[in-house]
Amino acid sequence: EIMDNSVKASKAVASEIASLIKVKELQGDPCVLGLATGSSPIKVYDELVRMHKEEGLSFKNVYTFNLDEYYPMQPDALQSYVRFMKEYLFDHIDIPKENIHIPDGTLKQEDVYAFCQKYEQRLEELGGLDLQILGIGRTGHIGFNEPGSSVNSRTRMITLDSITRIDAASDFFGEEYVPRKAITMGVGTIMKANRIILMAWGEGKANIIKRTVEGPVTYETPASFLQNHPNTTFVIDDAAGAEL
Ligand code: GLP
Repeated sequence: EIMDNSVKASKAVASEIASLIKVKELQGDPCVLGLATGSSPIKVYDELVRMHKEEGLSFKNVYTFNLDEYYPMQPDALQSYVRFMKEYLFDHIDIPKENIHIPDGTLKQEDVYAFCQKYEQRLEELGGLDLQILGIGRTGHIGFNEPGSSVNSRTRMITLDSITRIDAASDFFGEEYVPRKAITMGVGTIMKANRIILMAWGEGKANIIKRTVEGPVTYETPASFLQNHPNTTFVIDDAAGAEL
């Protein structure tokens, strides 16, 4: 879906999320959302916060699993995805704290594997992801699944691509301060979601959107695996769709 601007597009995505939350509540089932960070989903979170404040949309029944976190990372650091999620969403809605899951950037290295196993297990106990929202990196990463990630990959520690570290440099006040690792949900974890919405805005994403949508399905462009997911929509603006 190519929309003429990201505000309109983000509102449409937020309203799909809100409808899902309401349906799940009526059914008495938990609503399990996979959430993303980065600039792409910010307007969706703004709109969900507005719906909570003005329309009484409740998140009491919502469980969230964030895609990724830098490693190492303290939760209160400026670049932390824990901090990001609080700032843009969690601090402004009524989601119970215990329903929130974000990869832990403070773990000791030897505890990461067990943490990742538990992350997957908890997700499965809740019945899996009802809806996953995604951004896309210039390398074609979803979450932090960089080129080389297999379609069956699960939550794990990865090494960040140099392009990703260059793109994150301004957030860290210099490339040398960008962590070399991250913990991310796998491509396989994401592919099990019932519904996936990937968002991309601006001309900087035009090339990777073309490769992802029109190029071959390959681990060299991990987002291209989404071509084989039965219920994925790319919601992009004109600029991001310019090379299609
Ligand atoms: C980071 C995140 C990704 C996100 C990407 C794109 O690398 N880990 O999940 O999709 O940035 O960011 P943006 O939305 O700011 O373009």
